[in-house]
Amino acid sequence: MKIRAEKGDIEKVQCDLLIVGMFDSESNRFTTKLDERLNSELAAAMKRKEFTGEAGQLKMIASLGKLPAQKVLVVGLGKKADYKIENLRRAAASAIRVAQSANARKTITALHHLECEKADEAERITALLEGSLLGSYQFNQFKTDDKEKEKRVDDLIVLTDQPPAAEKAIKKAEIICTAALHVRDMVNLPSNIVTPSWLADEAAKLKKLGVKVTVYGKEELKKMNFNALLAVSQGSVLEPKFVVMEHGSGKEPVAFVGKGITFDSGGLDIKPAKGMEDMKMDKAGAATVIGLMEAVAQLKMPQHIICAFPTCENMPSGTAYRPGDIIKGYNKKTIEMMNTDAEGRMVLSDALSYVEKEFAPSAIIDLATLTGACVVALGYWATGLFTTDDKLFETLKAAGKETGERVWRLPLWDEYKDNLKTDVADIRSVGRSYDAGAIEGATFLKNFIEKTPWVHLDIAGTAWMPESKFYFSRGATGNGVRLLVKWLEKR
Ligand code: BES
Ligand code: ZN
Ligand code: ZN
Repeated sequence: MKIRAEKGDIEKVQCDLLIVGMFDSESNRFTTKLDERLNSELAAAMKRKEFTGEAGQLKMIASLGKLPAQKVLVVGLGKKADYKIENLRRAAASAIRVAQSANARKTITALHHLECEKADEAERITALLEGSLLGSYQFNQFKTDDKEKEKRVDDLIVLTDQPPAAEKAIKKAEIICTAALHVRDMVNLPSNIVTPSWLADEAAKLKKLGVKVTVYGKEELKKMNFNALLAVSQGSVLEPKFVVMEHGSGKEPVAFVGKGITFDSGGLDIKPAKGMEDMKMDKAGAATVIGLMEAVAQLKMPQHIICAFPTCENMPSGTAYRPGDIIKGYNKKTIEMMNTDAEGRMVLSDALSYVEKEFAPSAIIDLATLTGACVVALGYWATGLFTTDDKLFETLKAAGKETGERVWRLPLWDEYKDNLKTDVADIRSVGRSYDAGAIEGATFLKNFIEKTPWVHLDIAGTAWMPESKFYFSRGATGNGVRLLVKWLEKR
């Protein structure tokens, strides 16, 4: 889909589909103008209560030669008083899906024309683009015979009085959303394709954007004492990797670390079939930091940024690690590993300690599909956030509010530490009872950060949607890229 900005009169533009917005029960200067040419079809639909402008409602009107646009799609934006920038993203996603299925190759949109929440036109165009790009995503590369594939929008034209300013917003939104959609692809691709080596190669492709990429394989990991990562990987025939990407230079980088389990069977503590079905998504943290680095490099952001991920497969076998194994990883603390399905915290323990020691970052943020307990607690509409740094929490919360990727803070109080006590090693990897599982996972990770301000984002519920909704389609969400780019911009 090619996107550009153009100046034009809504009554005169020629296209397959023209998209306009309407607040609940409030026609506006655009809908009124168009409806005058359309024999008041919209007014009639409103009178019949078929369409009122409620959020999510759509009304398609064929112009039958009465306008140069072949069809007009009026999109309900909900009550004006409740209007938020997120509504515009969602409306844009519904609209682009209709445009796709109508095979409207040339689509012109004016959905951003109605003012909202003091957002200026550039911000509204950004939201319009985000909704359109994220909403148009389809993961259909393995469908060999799909008629729906032929239906698409080739050109999306944003109608504006200020094309040069709009083009700037379009360029930026395209970079960021393309990275987020790349994350969706990496996560949606199955584990027989996306192996640890595949992920490392994907990261290495960022070299062409000027990113420094270092990949450590099994032999190097042995020398580096990444024994927790090696332990998790030892049940799989696939070689583990640890990947470090670096953008910019100077002291004190900001570091991001993502969990990259390319398939989580649970290991010897094997998952039940239902719990295993979607476990190709357990690499979402790693995919997100690759996507983030891609966006950061293309936007030429001024900061020094490290994105790193440990990656391997968690499988049961005769060589797999066992409950009760004691493992001494990179930072020398001994871990009594008590459940092979709690593998994320193991691989992250090596990666977090390494990144802190090697790069002395000013902040570390990890992203991990760490616990089912976080999904139980927060569902799909908030990422679990853990930190002892109030400022990091406040700034991430603010960024999430802007991008629609909300975070919700859960506690890291000392009382939870007792669960991880053991007589035989420095720490247990899981508690004796399985309560407060998300907090316990975060508490474990905290032991592997010495002094750096740190945030753990449990994205188990937000990296993957079980159903299509708003600008998400079933599967990977790509959440995190927009959030962290916004956070970096505000930092
Ligand atoms: N990858 C899973 C967490 C997960 C579950 C992500 C559901 C997305 C959806 C993780 O490795 C895991 O299995 N965690 C265990 C931890 C437990 C053994 C302490 C869990 O959540 O059950
Ligand atoms: Zn697991
Ligand atoms: Zn896992």
